[in-house]
Amino acid sequence: MRPIGRLRLGVNIDHVATVRNARGSAYPDPVRAAEIAQEAGADGITAHLREDRRHISDTDIERLMAHLTLPLNLEMAATSEMQRIALRHRPHAVCIVPEKREERTTEGGLDVSREESRLADFISPLAGAGCRVSIFVAADSWQVEAAHRIGAAVVELHTGAYCDAWTEGRFDDAKDELLRLRTASALAHTLGLEVHAGHGLTYDTVKSVAAFPEVMELNIGHFLIGEAIFLGLAEAIHEMRRLMDEARSSGAGP
Ligand code: PXP
Repeated sequence: MRPIGRLRLGVNIDHVATVRNARGSAYPDPVRAAEIAQEAGADGITAHLREDRRHISDTDIERLMAHLTLPLNLEMAATSEMQRIALRHRPHAVCIVPEKREERTTEGGLDVSREESRLADFISPLAGAGCRVSIFVAADSWQVEAAHRIGAAVVELHTGAYCDAWTEGRFDDAKDELLRLRTASALAHTLGLEVHAGHGLTYDTVKSVAAFPEVMELNIGHFLIGEAIFLGLAEAIHEMRRLMDEARSSGAGP
């Protein structure tokens, strides 16, 4: 099968906010990161408003909606508070994810098959408000089929198990996980769902998933923000050095 179209890149900016929040300061600003992502060729911005607001805040979502020209993909848990927020902002897309307070990151996909009717009721007003509803699921056929039954437009396949296996050097497991992703993405496409994928992707793991012809969008965050430190650190230090030297040579002072 030939690829269905150009593969979109959604840049997740959550961890710019994680660094900001570590000091309770106003910087680094995730909206500035979104603008840079846009200039660098991102097709969309993804932000996860967690119930504990550990990274992205309500104000970040308001500012992203006001400033961004790229489509915003709002990741959120299936709670009434998040539904109210999404209905107020009406972002381009809403991705429903499972959420546990004690987890460091979204550990698994949503168990759609266990609560089909609640999730169908939950997403219906969001779709009615014009948001493209995506469901974040593990690469299991029954979860993909359940996402289809509840009326989602999109499934995002959780690539975390594949990426973890690869990173930990468990290459046989990584191969198995990749096969599960491949099968799930073909099934989702056959059912008429748009297929996205993400979680834990790096330069090493992105290529195999990007090669799946049905996948239309990858959402990538943590690795990109981490890599940005190394690609940008020298430049930031040079600028600080330049400002310090300039102040000394001009004798500028109070
Ligand atoms: N897709 C979904 C649904 C997610 O929850 C996340 C993490 O917030 C990502 C993609 C991006 O994962 P990562 O930050 O590991 O690239």
